[in-house]
Amino acid sequence: MKEKPIRVDYRTDKKTKPIIEDIEFGREFTDHMFVMDYSFAHGWHDPRIIPYQPLTVDPAAMIFHYGQSVFEGMKAYLSPKGDALLFRPQKNIERLNRSNQRLCIPEIDEKFVLKAIKQLVSLEKEWIPTKQGTSLYIRPFIISTEPYLGVASSQQYQFIVILSPVGSYYKEGVNPVEILVENEYVRAVVGGTGEAKTGGNYASSLKAQEIAERNGYAQVLWLDAVEKKYIEEVGSMNVFFKINGEIITPALTGSILPGVTRDSAIKLLKHWGFKVTESKITIKELIEAFHNGILEEAFGTGTAAVISPIGSLVWNDEKITINQGKTGELSKRLYDTITDIQYGKTKDPFGWSE
Ligand code: COI
Repeated sequence: MKEKPIRVDYRTDKKTKPIIEDIEFGREFTDHMFVMDYSFAHGWHDPRIIPYQPLTVDPAAMIFHYGQSVFEGMKAYLSPKGDALLFRPQKNIERLNRSNQRLCIPEIDEKFVLKAIKQLVSLEKEWIPTKQGTSLYIRPFIISTEPYLGVASSQQYQFIVILSPVGSYYKEGVNPVEILVENEYVRAVVGGTGEAKTGGNYASSLKAQEIAERNGYAQVLWLDAVEKKYIEEVGSMNVFFKINGEIITPALTGSILPGVTRDSAIKLLKHWGFKVTESKITIKELIEAFHNGILEEAFGTGTAAVISPIGSLVWNDEKITINQGKTGELSKRLYDTITDIQYGKTKDPFGWSE
């Protein structure tokens, strides 16, 4: 796309901002949104910031029928100096393009999109909450808008960015959650779309999540789709284990989302001198490590919750309680360090905040 200035249509009737203490994840949205269209003839065009509003989309639009869409999740924070800070936004935008490739959606210009997101966030700076644990969640997404019922790649799309002031994702915050190991349903299969951030992966995860929640668990631990023995992800997060002083996380073998927080945790852990292994790990090996007294911590990583410690795991009829169900030292250290970098409160040795 030829770089055009972003047209801005300001809202005159500003919304009332929510009380941050009461806020739920992803329920409130700011005054403006970014929109850009794609057509086969014109490519990505007409970038604009407009008042937050419902979309007008044809009921035959392909998104409603075949689900061709991708999304991202990232956060903005307010630094002690009052600057809006983004955390590794380039990584999310690169991943959006990898998801685009998988879903046959035309790629976006990464530099331009980063500029657009920064412009939108800066316009909505007053919406960035300042309380510890809160932030402005940024949700870029692309939907296929061509009105056509044939199964094919759409020739029209909309790229949209909305912003939502958020508190913690899980009601437990950084306190440990109870997890059910899922034996029946699977999240993704190698060759499928598990590596891409696309709505269908999340839609297909709901059944297992609902059953887990009904039985009192916060989330499920996903196993691989073929042998149902290798650990893949936890809920919508990547998963890490500390076993006998070393860190292990499932390798990115094709069905696992390459998380930005996952990558940040690996880099920090290595920087601190931990041995980090990205490899396959079976649920049996994990349970064995527990029985041998060497499973020290388990936690999920993701943009929404940052770090979410696992307090207990139930597999078949067995329940294991990790680190006496308490937040582990390493989970806490990772959470504090990553969030301190995100809020611009500490030295950022990797240059992640911008
Ligand atoms: C995350 O952990 O950031 C996620 O992917 C969850 C999100 C879809 C709300």
